[in-house]
Amino acid sequence: MPAISPALEVTPEAATAALLARIDRTRLPVHVAVIMDGNGRWAEARRLERGEGHAAGVESVRDTVEAAAALGLSALTLFAFSLENWRRPAEEVEALMDLVKRYLKLETGNLIANSIRFRALGRVHELPRDVREMVAETSAATAHCTGLAMNVALNYGGRAEIVDAAREFARRALAEGRVPDLDEGAFSEHLSTRGLPDPDLLIRTSGEMRLSNFLLFQSAYTEFWTTETLWPDFRRRHLSEAVVGFPRRIRRYGGLR
Ligand code: IPE
Ligand code: IPE
Ligand code: MG
Repeated sequence: MPAISPALEVTPEAATAALLARIDRTRLPVHVAVIMDGNGRWAEARRLERGEGHAAGVESVRDTVEAAAALGLSALTLFAFSLENWRRPAEEVEALMDLVKRYLKLETGNLIANSIRFRALGRVHELPRDVREMVAETSAATAHCTGLAMNVALNYGGRAEIVDAAREFARRALAEGRVPDLDEGAFSEHLSTRGLPDPDLLIRTSGEMRLSNFLLFQSAYTEFWTTETLWPDFRRRHLSEAVVGFPRRIRRYGGLR
């Protein structure tokens, strides 16, 4: 009887890696945004404090940033703390702020080594002083980097961003004694994402299907990709899985194709 060779087992990771190897890298998304959600549920499932879920999520940030750089993406925008997240208990907010500081302190060298340029989006001036200082330090230290643009939305709200931009636009025009002359392009330059292309792909973890006030203006024609995976379990293979299907999407921008 002929020997039966065991069936080759193809793991989802191997399948994604194989797809990635074949993909035309020039068709990958240029700018990927991520709503990192599910830290609390991850912790609760393990009977841990919510803060431990956030701490575990830092590992996912590291892996995802590295993976985005390796994939050759131009920009990665991570939603880390919303304006509305101040509604959470003070100790959770403190734990989050602490993690931001610690991450920046530990990772700045690594970001420089990988030529990753860091920028914070949002009402940074309202953050606690030590966080603000660390944000300024990392931004300045990586300002010369020309690889991946890593943006972290901190104390960010999409509506507030639009209102702030409109206010600033009007204020400048009035100071110069002219009527505000608004168009979409000029307006974009007043948003915290100025200089960045709109996100091509928005990833949200933990199965939620909402924007939660993230990049409202910029995501007009962004493609969505969601996963049940909770943020602390998110790794480079999930990012690869999200981007690998991107070239197949047909973006119509309201036209026919
Ligand atoms: C995302 O995880 C992190 C932040 C919003 C700061 P959550 O803390 O929202 O986790 P869930 O949604 O409660 O599981
Ligand atoms: C969005 O997640 C904000 C961040 C990921 C930082 P939330 O957990 O705050 O969103 P909602 O409250 O479920 O909409
Ligand atoms: Mg949440």
